[in-house]
Amino acid sequence: MRLTALRKVYPGTGATPEVVALDGIDLAVERGRIHGIVGRSGAGKSTLIRCLTVLERPTSGAVVIDGEELSALPEGRLREARRRIGMVFQHVNLLDSRTVAQNVAYPLEVAGVPRAQRAARVQELLDLVGLGNRAGAYPAQLSGGQRQRVGIARALATEPAVLLCDEPTSALDSATTRQILGLIRDLRDRLGITVLIITHEMAVVREICDSVTLLDHGRVAEQGAVADVVAAYGSRLARELIPVPDLPLGEERQLVEVAYSTDDVATADVLAAVAALGTGVEVAAGTIETLAGRRVGRLQLDVPAADVAAALDRLHAVGLHAVVSSDGGAGTGSAVRATGAGVAR
Ligand SMILES: Nc1ncnc2c1ncn2[C@@H]1O[C@H](COP(=O)(O)OP(=O)(O)O)[C@@H](O)[C@H]1O
Ligand SMILES: [Mg+2]
Repeated sequence: MRLTALRKVYPGTGATPEVVALDGIDLAVERGRIHGIVGRSGAGKSTLIRCLTVLERPTSGAVVIDGEELSALPEGRLREARRRIGMVFQHVNLLDSRTVAQNVAYPLEVAGVPRAQRAARVQELLDLVGLGNRAGAYPAQLSGGQRQRVGIARALATEPAVLLCDEPTSALDSATTRQILGLIRDLRDRLGITVLIITHEMAVVREICDSVTLLDHGRVAEQGAVADVVAAYGSRLARELIPVPDLPLGEERQLVEVAYSTDDVATADVLAAVAALGTGVEVAAGTIETLAGRRVGRLQLDVPAADVAAALDRLHAVGLHAVVSSDGGAGTGSAVRATGAGVAR
């Protein structure tokens, strides 16, 4: 799927000024890849979803799904074209008076699939999401995670090319979240479906996304393969994907953040470099994690303000990424964005 120069302007009315909700979004996700869209409230995530499905006409730009430019289709052909997009929502709205099987059969009925074929297809879909033995249950008898599985089975019924998930795990506890994310990954592996996940949870990006876009005020602030994004140490995404706590500081002290990949430098050598800064420097927090196959360490150093400049010089001299924490996100977005070109066509 591909979005090109996508723009959406909500016109103003009377005293209300117009809102540029999407301001030239470029995004390409290769078939069979899982892409995450993150961003603060108001960044344009919901508008992006509505434009993708052309429930909302983009002001300009193109939406291409499975080789077809949806944004160029007349209304009359959109309904059919939308079957190429399966939608999964935070709150699954199942029909309470219908069984699990009847809920999953619903989009097939709408698409005019004959009854005899429907039953076999529904069973296949329920097996796929691990609910093969709950076909006759009613939604009220299911857990939240099971309901989400039914929602996913229903979304897959018309064999879409793209699964569009809007906060799919935001209403679930962490254990169930992990199961549902595992299911989505498994479905991608088995069906080769392309997945777009809108989320405010970095854990979702960490666990299953191949690539990610950070939206900010309707623009792409950062974008790239997760492996590249985490290696751009000062970027907003890198800092949010592998966070270290910001701790309260004593007077006349500052936090200095150090990040590195164990491909480049051993943790022992980093700690030796930190020790060489002297006894006034404390390690306030630290973490080391493997993400997208890359092992990244982050340290939060608590440094006397008077020594910060010298400490940065010495850390830079041994090739480490080191910044005063509060400045860490500045000016690095474009560097990450440049890696986005390699993610997908
Ligand atoms: N129907 C609408 N009419 C006017 N402005 C809108 C409409 N929908 C969203 N907006 C505005 O567009 C911007 C992006 O909103 P939205 O897409 O809902 O962001 P998000 O889902 O990331 O919170 C916000 O400034 C919001 O107020
Ligand atoms: Mg929203």
